Amino acid sequence: MRIYQESDYEAMSRRAANLISAEVIRNPACVLGLATGSTPVGTYKQLAVWSQKGDFSFKEVTTVNLDEYKGLAPTHDQSYRYFMQANFFDHIDIDAAKTHIPDGLAADPGAECARYDELIRSLGYADLQLLGLGHNGHIGFNEPCDNFVKATHVIDLAESTIAANARFFSSADDVPRQALTMGIGCIMAARRVLLIASGADKADAVYNAFCGPITPFCPASILQLHNDMVLVGDKAALSKL
Ligand code: GLP
Repeated sequence: MRIYQESDYEAMSRRAANLISAEVIRNPACVLGLATGSTPVGTYKQLAVWSQKGDFSFKEVTTVNLDEYKGLAPTHDQSYRYFMQANFFDHIDIDAAKTHIPDGLAADPGAECARYDELIRSLGYADLQLLGLGHNGHIGFNEPCDNFVKATHVIDLAESTIAANARFFSSADDVPRQALTMGIGCIMAARRVLLIASGADKADAVYNAFCGPITPFCPASILQLHNDMVLVGDKAALSKL
């Protein structure tokens, strides 16, 4: 595992954007696994600035996002499709047809999960998978539980996740109770995993993920077994390592 400790959020975002752009420059038709949440916003902003300057292009890149809230339309301003458009896709030259996110409105969510898994498999899995980290150690929406779930699945969100994400909604009651999330299988099948973390409130989660036991009660801990794991964090988030 490689660790980059950066001074602050801006530097963390720049480092992560550097690693992602290096992947795109090396392989312009790469598959990027992407994440939502507040942590990657700066990374996406930096990538957009550099690609607008003409340093590299996303034209041939395919993206697969980790997750989507069940029941939210792509036009809902808290859906992850909306987030990706607003924070990244609308600012780069990516082909819309090559951007993939689970369909939160699918009539048969189980079938949608199976379709999504097959899609990622048919793409040959992600060349680089970007991840944020939940306070409880979740990655994507793989919440702590007593076993690692391999396939894309529908998950009941943990109370702590609902509380953490309530800041984006008018109230906690408006946060969807379920989501569709890529499972541990596709995440671990990515050739490289890049986890980013920022802020003192993530320090325990980072410690538990990378220094604690490998257990599904801290889903990110399985990343200790990935052979190309890159952790980029600011000082505060890495302070307990
Ligand atoms: C969300 C997302 C995760 C994200 C995490 C942390 O619930 N499903 O993909 O990594 O929570 O979010 P943030 O970066 O806002 O702390």
